[in-house]
Amino acid sequence: MASERTLSIIKPDATERNLTGQIIARLEGAGLRVIAQKRVWWKKKDARKFYDIHKDQPFFKGLIAFMTSGPIVLQVLEGEDAIAKNREAMGATNPVDAAPGSIRKDFGVNLQRNSVHGSDSAATAKREIALCFKKSEIVG
Ligand code: RTP
Ligand code: MG
Repeated sequence: MASERTLSIIKPDATERNLTGQIIARLEGAGLRVIAQKRVWWKKKDARKFYDIHKDQPFFKGLIAFMTSGPIVLQVLEGEDAIAKNREAMGATNPVDAAPGSIRKDFGVNLQRNSVHGSDSAATAKREIALCFKKSEIVG
């Protein structure tokens, strides 16, 4: 597997509890390199565009409210097999199902307040990185 890039988000529940550094340390420890990073506070339109794939889900409204409830940290991560490595470091969507030692197991609060996002495929990563970063902001 060649070097790959993925989009990571440290969600509002984590920034609120000052967990940004601890989460970055977990990602770096998993072999991922932060090659772009910024802290932003999304407007509803930003969150709706990013999560467009979930627009018909019953949890969509709550997801948008949560993701705009406070600052988030957007990151581009790079490494061998970065998408799968990041998903493994994050753990399952619901923290109660997440593996021991994963970010969501250790820091997640519940299914919605699960501390991190990571792209789920190469196509999704490409779309999400392009949505969140200009090319000049990514220094690989
Ligand atoms: P993510 O996109 O954040 O990395 O998480 P994921 O792939 O593991 O989960 P996904 O199915 O893409 O869902 C996106 C986010 O929506 C919230 N969610 N709430 N039933 C619910 O209340 C529900 N299901 C999902 C979570 O915050 C999830 O991360
Ligand atoms: Mg997802």
